Amino acid sequence: MAAEGTVTTTKRTVAVLTSGGDAPGMNAAIRAVVRAGAARGFEMIGVLHGFTGLIAGELRALGPRDVGGIIDRGGTVLGTTRCVELKTESGQQRAVQQLRRHGIDALVVIGGDGSQSGAHALQAHGVAVIGVASTIDNDLRGTDISIGATTAAEIAVEAIDRLRVTAASHQRGFLVEVMGRHCGYLAMLAGIAGGAEAIVVPEMEMSPEAVATELRTARTRGKSHAIVVVAEGARHNADMLEQYFKARQRADDYELRVTRLGHVQRGGKPCLFDRLLATRLGIAAIDCIAAGQYGQLLGIVGNEVIGTPLADVAGSPRGADTRLLETAMMLAR
Ligand code: F6P
Repeated sequence: MAAEGTVTTTKRTVAVLTSGGDAPGMNAAIRAVVRAGAARGFEMIGVLHGFTGLIAGELRALGPRDVGGIIDRGGTVLGTTRCVELKTESGQQRAVQQLRRHGIDALVVIGGDGSQSGAHALQAHGVAVIGVASTIDNDLRGTDISIGATTAAEIAVEAIDRLRVTAASHQRGFLVEVMGRHCGYLAMLAGIAGGAEAIVVPEMEMSPEAVATELRTARTRGKSHAIVVVAEGARHNADMLEQYFKARQRADDYELRVTRLGHVQRGGKPCLFDRLLATRLGIAAIDCIAAGQYGQLLGIVGNEVIGTPLADVAGSPRGADTRLLETAMMLAR
């Protein structure tokens, strides 16, 4: 296995896996990695079912034709898991043994924060590893935007557009819960772009009382309906807000409904942006391997592909930048 920082021009065997929550654009990234690697004469290997499959030795050779017809497909053709075993020393050693047994020189890990923590753990065992930023949550340091987040935000805003139609018809209020784990990025984008009356995110919490006040003043301002977008990671999440409103519903309040978008946001075709981002990061992963530059997470900062040491990103997810939210909420008035 190549050591970190080694520059090599010899033929290489490179494995790629997807890990954690699937994100639209992962397939475009797999395609880019496999074809860019093949173009350099590398032998390319796909690991099935993330780190779980790596530990179990589920590896398959991949040629350019094996990744045809997937650039427009959501999910991941390699499969993915949340691998608890990789958090243990024995799991990490078994993963390293499999890489050695199959003659893998370098590993590309496409995934979010948990996956990059796994990549970082393997790096500590001497594995030549490169991370590719991919999570709908967009909570990874080292990238402005991760593969899948834009598609997921599009899906959420489309759902909000649809809910607004029925909300307006019935003169109702809707609480819409959006994914994102502890990060409010998706909720914030979907809420602003969907014209929500209130947006509740972990980075800028709103109390149930404040949400109720916002809805009541929307009504007195003549709004026939209202949408509140709530990040799943907010302290006052959709469950709590629902309970609050059930207990304190007033005759002059909107009749309220709750919709949890859930995993719907992870499915579907990757949008153009995610396909291009995945393509750029996938090619860059192979460029890094060719140059012997390992131990980095590849992301995009100011439209440039940037590598950040895994040590600086793994295990420290970031929250959303709420500057736009602060100013955009006046537009809901
Ligand atoms: O990390 C992506 C994500 O979709 C989060 O937004 C969400 O909290 C979580 O995964 C759901 O995980 P699972 O698919 O394991 O239920």
